[in-house]
Amino acid sequence: MAETAATADFLGATQAQAMVRISPCQAQVGCTANNEMSVVRSPCPALNTLANHGLLPHSGKGITTEDILSAFAIGQNFAADTVQGAAVAALALCSNETGTTCTTWDLDMLDKPHAIEHDNSLSREDYNFGKDNNTVFSPEIWGQVLRIWRGSPIIDFKLANAARAERVAVANATDVPGWYVPAVAAGFHETAFYLSLFGDPVEGNARQDWIDVWFQEERMPFELGWTATQRQTITEASLDAMVAKLQAVA
Ligand code: HEM
Repeated sequence: MAETAATADFLGATQAQAMVRISPCQAQVGCTANNEMSVVRSPCPALNTLANHGLLPHSGKGITTEDILSAFAIGQNFAADTVQGAAVAALALCSNETGTTCTTWDLDMLDKPHAIEHDNSLSREDYNFGKDNNTVFSPEIWGQVLRIWRGSPIIDFKLANAARAERVAVANATDVPGWYVPAVAAGFHETAFYLSLFGDPVEGNARQDWIDVWFQEERMPFELGWTATQRQTITEASLDAMVAKLQAVA
């Protein structure tokens, strides 16, 4: 991704500037004849956030692997090895869906159920409740998580596991019979993602207020003091080590 004003924002401009969605419409895939963006989003809060800030194409369309590596490095201080595999999986999903060899993909392609997407998400409904419900934030589903956390300012491994366990239990009980497919490994990995992003990459202990803004509003919580470089770079090795700790206390 070429260096844009959005990139510069994350590299050190003011918080107010970083909050503005500044991508000029004409320069982007997805700009309509009316000079408006036709925007698509995904089931992943991390990808949606980066698109909302303009570090991925704001349209959510025409995403390359290079875009992903650069957006996660600049926007969230993630090493390339943490997202390389998912970026390849997204390209493969696009190729399967379109019957062509994709070199780019769109965020809404990830809504295909039980592909990369899975059930018992923390922040959106499972796919079988209606089209598009797995790409948009659900206050009701997120409310189930917040009830488990009971206003605790810091989310540790046990609280994070308890939230996921609650969502598994509710999905099991309420999904259309025969629909629900467990996604245990993905759940642990995604938990390690958000605990690392908003806490310590070794110990977890993430700030609930930061996590909450990110899930609910799909933006980075700059005004609450979050910055991309406040902690060490997150690597696949640090994520794997955290997954092992989460499993040990599950
Ligand atoms: C190319 C890179 C990525 C792709 C293709 C991708 C894709 C996805 C998809 C399809 C889901 C939906 C899973 C579900 O049904 O709940 C998801 C969820 C999630 N992703 Fe990503 N993701 C990527 C990178 C990341 C990164 C780097 C983070 C780090 C913060 C992240 C954090 C999450 C979290 C926390 C969820 C769970 C959302 C929930 O349970 O509501 N993702 N991702």
